[in-house]
Amino acid sequence: MSEAALPAEAAAAPERRPGLLRRLWPRSLAGRTALVLLFGLTLVQAAGLLIHALDRVDLQRLIQAREISGRTFAVWRTAVLTPPDRRAAMLADIELPQGLAVSLDEAPLVPPGAPPPPPHIVRLFRLDQIATAGPRHFRPREARFAALGPPDAFAAALRLPDGLWLNLRVHLPPPRPWHSETFLAAFAVMTLTAVALTLWAVRRLTQPVRALAAAAERLGRDVNAPPLPETGPAEVATASRAFNTMAERIRRFVGDRTQMLAAIGHDLRTPITRLRLRAEFMEDEEQRRKMLADLDEMEAMITATLAFARDDAAAEPSVPLDLAALCRTVLDEAADARPEAAERLAYAGPGHLTVQARPTALKRALANLVGNALDYGGAARLTLTPPEAPGRPVRLTVEDDGPGIPPFALEAVFQPFHRLEASRNRETGGAGLGLPIARNILRAHGGDVVLRNRPGRAGLLAEVTLPG
Ligand SMILES: Nc1ncnc2c1ncn2[C@@H]1O[C@H](COP(=O)(O)OP(=O)(O)OP(=O)(O)O)[C@@H](O)[C@H]1O
Ligand SMILES: [Mg+2]
Repeated sequence: MSEAALPAEAAAAPERRPGLLRRLWPRSLAGRTALVLLFGLTLVQAAGLLIHALDRVDLQRLIQAREISGRTFAVWRTAVLTPPDRRAAMLADIELPQGLAVSLDEAPLVPPGAPPPPPHIVRLFRLDQIATAGPRHFRPREARFAALGPPDAFAAALRLPDGLWLNLRVHLPPPRPWHSETFLAAFAVMTLTAVALTLWAVRRLTQPVRALAAAAERLGRDVNAPPLPETGPAEVATASRAFNTMAERIRRFVGDRTQMLAAIGHDLRTPITRLRLRAEFMEDEEQRRKMLADLDEMEAMITATLAFARDDAAAEPSVPLDLAALCRTVLDEAADARPEAAERLAYAGPGHLTVQARPTALKRALANLVGNALDYGGAARLTLTPPEAPGRPVRLTVEDDGPGIPPFALEAVFQPFHRLEASRNRETGGAGLGLPIARNILRAHGGDVVLRNRPGRAGLLAEVTLPG
């Protein structure tokens, strides 16, 4: 049991589920390019924002520091110049900026040997120059500075000429780098414009790739599809030219082959006619009958080959046509040809279903399938199913009640002239071109036909798909 289970597990192992990143990674070229560009744009914008914010914080700091220094100087001058009895009143009148607190005390706020403020504060407030700047009689007798708890705060104690201390507590308000509505609006407009431009440019630049893919798809269905315009940027024009050249070569190649087939078929007719004349002179009755039968078969094959070559060469235009009506016509014609089988022909499906197709070619394909079902299965039941969703194919099945086809031959019968042994008799005998022609025509429409034995029952099921 476990041995039997092993190979199945081993086979399942390499099929790993794609990771989250892989699933998020877009499948289209446009999606990938847009994602990479938008990622780059986000990085650049983030770096720009950071530079702007740092610059703004620096500037805010400088302005705040200048304002605090200026006011401190005003307070100091008032304290020095005002007589002691009016000092308190005068100092109370001075308006102080946010982050500065002043008091006049007997004792200094900063004890000797207190840890100094951090260097950036010393630089910002030029603390090292306070005790030495200005006229001598105006300078503090002593100036002490100390760090306070937060990194942007410090304390200062300046000694007045009469021995009192002017104590200062400075605390820079927190920076507000985003406090500008115009900047934020401008930034949003800039970002949205860049995103819109990126998406538009990516769509435009990848358009030629989509056009090329569509043209390749069209060429697969119809070798005579119109060429691509050889305009646009140099690379695109070159690719379009190369594609058109390739399409032209394929057309010529297919045309040459078809012509050769037609020529061989045509030229074989004359020797066959001659052989038939000679056979008439054969003595042995039995041999003559067999020879003539073989020649008839050869002639039938050549006629079918010529018809095949002719069809292929005829470039019938593709038009909207009612597939339901076409199915009914094919069945009616089959019933006319074989009245005895009329009640074993049936159609099930919608009353109308429009598809884009070449009417004569599609009719031949369906007639071949219906003909086979009648020849080998004694019945032909058509079931037409409209597409389940937009973009899904139309399904048409042809079922019969015959012996079916052995599984190994289900694909082989699509080879030209491939006939199964059981059907190699005169009554049901054809050339072996019905199925290859049908598949050729359906594939040229962007569809296909496959054969299956009906599960659990006798009979074959031919399943046709066509683009909806
Ligand atoms: N519905 C069917 N049931 C059983 N066998 C089938 C059926 N359809 C086709 N076959 C087998 O596939 C072979 C190939 O079919 P195909 O239509 O290509 O050629 P054909 O019918 O023999 O000749 P032609 O259609 O050119 O007159 C047939 O000879 C037959 O043996
Ligand atoms: Mg056939």
